[in-house]
Amino acid sequence: MRIRLPRIPSSDITSESAYLNRRQFIKASGLGALALSVPNVGAKNHQAKVLNYQKVVPKIDSKGFYTDEVLTPYKDISSYNNFYEFGTSKSDPSVYAPQYLKTDPWSIRVSGLSKKQGEINLEDILKRFPLEERIYRLRCVEAWSMVVPWVGFSLADLIRYLEPTSSAKYIAFETLADKKQMPGIRSVSGLIDWPYREGLRLDEAMNELSFMAVGIYGREILPQNGAPIRLVVPWKYGFKSIKSIVGIRFVDKQPATSWQTIAPSEYGFYSNVNPNVSHPRWSQATERRLPSGLFDFKRVDTKLFNGYEEQVAYLYKGMNLTKYY
Ligand code: MTE
Repeated sequence: MRIRLPRIPSSDITSESAYLNRRQFIKASGLGALALSVPNVGAKNHQAKVLNYQKVVPKIDSKGFYTDEVLTPYKDISSYNNFYEFGTSKSDPSVYAPQYLKTDPWSIRVSGLSKKQGEINLEDILKRFPLEERIYRLRCVEAWSMVVPWVGFSLADLIRYLEPTSSAKYIAFETLADKKQMPGIRSVSGLIDWPYREGLRLDEAMNELSFMAVGIYGREILPQNGAPIRLVVPWKYGFKSIKSIVGIRFVDKQPATSWQTIAPSEYGFYSNVNPNVSHPRWSQATERRLPSGLFDFKRVDTKLFNGYEEQVAYLYKGMNLTKYY
């Protein structure tokens, strides 16, 4: 089901919602508009806004676009994060990213083996692609997982628009790296050679599941989750789903990626979710489904390709997944 989530004119937006006054997903017209009450999260200066959005009736579909699993609450999705540019603890991103990350204006620099080149304004990108909702599992390499209702558009549509040449075999992504906006870059600079980098084989990127997210729970994506635009690749470990993208490059060789560069024996380029290939320091057979506390600890079996085997197994036919982890 494709859902168009129209934006409201900025004149409709109250002044206190300074952060949310650019790309809104509210006032979804038509059937099933639902008022969703969400708590304020993040920093003091961040006004979480109650929005209306068009509800997707959760169902299992053959494309893997939805799941009927229980959604992880918004407060957990937006307060338990990995975004090392803002610090290494799970709570750092929701404290610092809303305070410091400036997402307007935002553009993506397109380079390498493609017809379209140069800075493309995010507004121009968003105008081209109807937004839809996808409910995906997100499985972190650290063995926790969430179920997230994303809003965005398919990466394949963006790639078609950018027109890679026939020699492009991979797509590489880069996150913003600005010391002034990202306190984590200053404090953990020895760990990652910034900017944070990720990449996909072009056929992986063209798979229908690969998604560019600009919203969560029908609302504009929060800074801690990778505002204003991030990648979501649900069959791979979460670190492939790079946040706050400012660069896209089409290349003919496998690009260097951040975690693979830091610890190649622990994090591979492919990083497909695989319960049969352990991380050298822990098993990947099960995962902790968030939210989880002392009394509601949920451990579930991890599935090959995070349960998206039907949609993506063809990409890895004949490949030794233990070697290409
Ligand atoms: N992107 C950037 N730029 N920096 C990061 O530290 N962390 C990754 C990924 N994308 C990360 C990133 C990891 S390890 C995970 S599990 C997911 O983001 C977490 O996404 P979430 O915080 O929205 O749940």
